[in-house]
Amino acid sequence: MSKIVFSISGNKKLAKELADALKCEFGRVYKKTFADGEIMVKSGSDVKDKDVIIIQSTSKNVNEELFSLLLLLDSIKRAGAKSIKLFMPYFAYSRQERVSWTNEPVSCEVVARIVDTANFDDLTCFDLHHPLIEGFFKHKITNKPTTKLFAAYYEQYLSKHHINKKDVVVVSPDHGSNLRVEMLAKELGNVGIVILDKVRPQPNRAEHLDIDGKLVKGKTCILIDDIIDTGGTIASASALLHRKGAQNVLISATHAVLSKGCLRRLKQSRVEDLVVTNTIEKKLDKSVKVLDILPLVLEEIQ
Ligand code: R5P
Repeated sequence: MSKIVFSISGNKKLAKELADALKCEFGRVYKKTFADGEIMVKSGSDVKDKDVIIIQSTSKNVNEELFSLLLLLDSIKRAGAKSIKLFMPYFAYSRQERVSWTNEPVSCEVVARIVDTANFDDLTCFDLHHPLIEGFFKHKITNKPTTKLFAAYYEQYLSKHHINKKDVVVVSPDHGSNLRVEMLAKELGNVGIVILDKVRPQPNRAEHLDIDGKLVKGKTCILIDDIIDTGGTIASASALLHRKGAQNVLISATHAVLSKGCLRRLKQSRVEDLVVTNTIEKKLDKSVKVLDILPLVLEEIQ
């Protein structure tokens, strides 16, 4: 059965790699903005009786990308696609999955319900901010971990730098990343784990509570999070680990939101090695290593 891969804007490079790997067509997307600001998005390729794969993170112009995706899904279904497999490698609004401050909406649930109204067969996301998000959807959803990619990266890194695993700890910058940290520590052969306590005195500002220095003194700390946005969480955690005598602090995160000023903030906080994935497509400084999620996408297709 013939397949066709689409991406509107979020992950074009990854989608093209996928189309090459599957030896199938990379679909054209036609998008028009009308004088009144309305948009129209449709497939510019024939999708009749085809198995369609769409890869679209919502990460740059979040709201426009989300709406464009809904329109494209409708266009493809109406044009007679046989099946539609949707990948949203980074799912925006995922950090608004609960009410944290008075009168807030649960925006993530609102967005999930809207996406759920569209016509597609199943959805795959990567390292969703919280597992409870899966419950917001009625569609079948796969929340795929990227642990394997990071484990392979760190196996190589530790061996190249002659770092003994008994001197390594995997660190979570808050209680939200516990599971991620446990999975990575296990993949690396059950290295130690440290969970930090993060407080947010106000939105977009992170601080960490003190820890017992014995946990990290002289250790290589692999500090792992799902998202780096302003860099505040990682900068504060990294500063604490350095103050407590860590030998070095290596940083990784699945989703490189990396808002303005983030990389400068990380550099100032003595971050030595930063590795992310390409769930969000963006031009990055050469010092940032980017792991390709293509093999994980292929696992979900073949
Ligand atoms: C929050 O709970 C997330 O897991 C991340 O720690 C957070 O979103 C990172 O944001 P920032 O880089 O702005 O501190």
